[in-house]
Amino acid sequence: MRWRALIISHMRCFLAIELPDDVRRALGALQDRLRDAGAGVKWTRPEQIHLTVKFLGDVADRNVPEVTEAARALASRYPSFDLEVRSAGCFPPKGPARIVWAGLADPPAALIDLHRDAEQSFAELGFKPENRAFKPHLTIGRVKESRDTWSLRDAVASEAGFTADIFPVDELVLFQSILDLQGPTYVPIAHLPFSKT
Ligand code: 2AM
Repeated sequence: MRWRALIISHMRCFLAIELPDDVRRALGALQDRLRDAGAGVKWTRPEQIHLTVKFLGDVADRNVPEVTEAARALASRYPSFDLEVRSAGCFPPKGPARIVWAGLADPPAALIDLHRDAEQSFAELGFKPENRAFKPHLTIGRVKESRDTWSLRDAVASEAGFTADIFPVDELVLFQSILDLQGPTYVPIAHLPFSKT
C-alpha cells in the first residue's frame, strides 16, 4: 500500500458586517480618548473594526465555495436594516477587563434572526454552534495587561453616552482572518447582499 501525505490547507473565516467610514472615524476618536487609560490595550485599527455575526474558524480551502454559497443563501433571506453604534463597555463586565467594546442601540430583530439562522445553517454544514448568548458588539481594543484595569474601566464608563450616526446595512461579508505577529488582518473574500424587500 502506498501512503501519501495529505496536506489540507485552511483559512480562518467569519461572517461580519462592515462599518461606513464616518462610524470608523467616530470609533477612532473614541479610541483616542481612551488611549491614556492604561492596561496596555491593543487598539483595533479603525478600518478593521466590524460586527461579527458568526465565527466559523478554520475552513478547508476546498469547502470555501460551499461556505460562500451557504452564506449567500443566508443573507438573501434577510432584509436590509439600520444599525446605530452606541455606548462602550468592557468584557467581562466585572473583574479584570479583557475586551473594550462599542455596542449597538436596540439591535434590530433582523440581526438577531440572522445570527440564529447562521448558527443553525452552519451547524448543518458541520460548524460548531456558539454556546454563548449573542452579544452583538464591536471589539475596539484587547487588554494586554489585565493586572490593573480600574482606570481603563473608569475611562470606558465615562463613554457610556457614546453614539455614532445611524447607517444602513445591506450586505453580510465573509472575511478571512490572517494571523501574524502584528495581530490579525481581516480580508473580505465575498460580499453577500441582503434581499431588497
Ligand atoms: P471578538 O471581536 O469578540 O473577539 C475574528 O476573529 C472575529 O471573530 C472577531 O470579531 C471575534 O470576536 C470573532 N470571534 C468569535 N468567536 C471567536 C473565536 N472563538 N475565536 C476567534 N474569534 C472569534
